[in-house]
Amino acid sequence: MSSSLPQVPPTRIDFSPEDRAWIAARISEVLESGHLTLGRFGQEFETQLAASQGTKHAVVVNSGTASLEIMLRAVDVVGKDVLVPANTFFATAAAVIAAGGRPVLMDTDVATLSTSLKEIEKRLTPKTAGIMIVHIAGFITAEMPAIAEFARKKGLWLMEDAAHAQGSTLDGKHAGTFGLAGSFSFYPTKVMTSAEGGVIVTDDAKLAEEARIYRDQGKASFLQNTHIRMGYNWRMSEPHAVIGLRHLQNLPAMIAARRRIAARYDAGLGTGSNGVRPLLPPTGCMSNYYKYVVMLPDGVERGSLKKWLRERHGVNCSGEVYEFPLHKHEVLRHLDPGDLTQAEAACGRQMCLPIFASMTEAQADQVLAALAAAKAEGLL
Ligand SMILES: Cc1ncc(COP(=O)(O)O)c(C=O)c1O
Repeated sequence: MSSSLPQVPPTRIDFSPEDRAWIAARISEVLESGHLTLGRFGQEFETQLAASQGTKHAVVVNSGTASLEIMLRAVDVVGKDVLVPANTFFATAAAVIAAGGRPVLMDTDVATLSTSLKEIEKRLTPKTAGIMIVHIAGFITAEMPAIAEFARKKGLWLMEDAAHAQGSTLDGKHAGTFGLAGSFSFYPTKVMTSAEGGVIVTDDAKLAEEARIYRDQGKASFLQNTHIRMGYNWRMSEPHAVIGLRHLQNLPAMIAARRRIAARYDAGLGTGSNGVRPLLPPTGCMSNYYKYVVMLPDGVERGSLKKWLRERHGVNCSGEVYEFPLHKHEVLRHLDPGDLTQAEAACGRQMCLPIFASMTEAQADQVLAALAAAKAEGLL
């Protein structure tokens, strides 16, 4: 049945013909110059990223996982505890482990999918060095200023895994700028991409300098073969920087388009009378709508519902954020402190509706109609 239906994809990565021509011309320049990595396009990408975030420094690297590990290495977490949400992507915790620290999992605030200050206070240990906040789906918790103030008073660093939240703000302040440093990912599913890539943003000159050392094999400088840190090859290539530069130029328009689709969903779904309850951004937060999350009523089997929406209505929902909390993954089970019930509830009951910059209002209406049909059939 689905083959005759117009399909709504879960997400789409858009490069217009103009974008592709712009990128091709500059990659050709890069190839001609022979300067393929750590060159002028990378520097330009960093300048523009810092300007768009309002930070003094931006250091581009080859993934959002690399940016996390570099920030953590720069502050030295060896033998220390780092507070990390249970509801996040694997890399948030894996980077702590790779940098020599121990992730201490925090439960989820179901209203924001983030972490509350109360939960942070509860999970502090004598070895806690800092707090990693993740802005799930692009939502920034309204408690961010209070969390930053708490960290300052306790002498802990605060960092943000802002992989989902490029362009999101809280009372005008950008994600990634509330603490010592912020990490972003340019993986292709994100609101903008450089194919692969990531960036560290910070106002701290020392941290930025350390990040540049770490990303290039821990070398004292580009032209010096003296290794002074346990770095790695975390460099971003020039072709990746060119792709990222173009998408960064398009970012404000791409986010505005996502917000228009989100507003249409908000209007169509109301406060939950249609069976699903949209997760609304915290007060003061302008989300980039990396994801549009809805909460399902108790007892709904998400997998079957997603299959039905796909097969009967051509509506392809994306992966959740996240399907399981970290302690449910085989390799991270040892991190389970035993009481992460809200994280389990948040992961179990959410579903992410299709959303992307080039999505049409007709596609959004197709999703809303599919949900209404699911409700009428008693699936919701
Ligand atoms: C929350 C979060 N942290 C870290 C990452 C890792 O980023 P990357 O895939 O660029 O390494 C991702 C995305 O994939 C993510 O969603």
